[in-house]
Amino acid sequence: MKHTIEEMISTAEIETMLDRLADEINEHYKEHKRLLMVGLLKGSAVFMADLCRRIRGHVEIDFMAVSSYGNKMTSSRDVRILKDIDSDIAGRDVLIVEDLIDSGNTLNKVKEMLMLRSPKSLAICTLLDKPERREVNVHVDFIGKTIPDEFIVGYGIDYAEQYRNLSYIAKVIPQE
Ligand code: PRP
Ligand code: MN
Ligand code: MG
Repeated sequence: MKHTIEEMISTAEIETMLDRLADEINEHYKEHKRLLMVGLLKGSAVFMADLCRRIRGHVEIDFMAVSSYGNKMTSSRDVRILKDIDSDIAGRDVLIVEDLIDSGNTLNKVKEMLMLRSPKSLAICTLLDKPERREVNVHVDFIGKTIPDEFIVGYGIDYAEQYRNLSYIAKVIPQE
């Protein structure tokens, strides 16, 4: 698709969001022993790298890759684990780190799957939230910014695997 991109959230604004999120997370997990931050590949990789460096105390990071297939017959989503986390999360404080929540299907399923492993607590942090696109309800504990239903890229978020390396977030504008 022919398109251009236009900056929507600057690097400076992302830094401010990171600092605020880290303050909230550090406050919430004041007493934690070994916080495990779980990023969902690939979109969360850039956000995870910046966020985890702002979290105090003993912190571990792990990653999970899932794929979600739309099922047109049932309009439900089948979410499969392509790469599981290595860590045993039983009895641990776990924070899922996601770049973007759209329909909510990915996080809803991931949360359900991880809950079966009896973590001490399981919370979700997302950099961006698009509530207008929600198909399933999922409770989000830490939100960087709520945005309208725009096609966005950058800072880990891709369009056909491109633009993850942008240091800012941009809107994709289709050209005729
Ligand atoms: C994108 C995004 C979220 C998910 C949100 O990932 O990074 O993980 O979609 O969509 P949902 O709320 O409708 O489930 P994508 O599947 O494109 O994989 P990627 O992170 O590797 O780009
Ligand atoms: Mn993703
Ligand atoms: Mg993607």
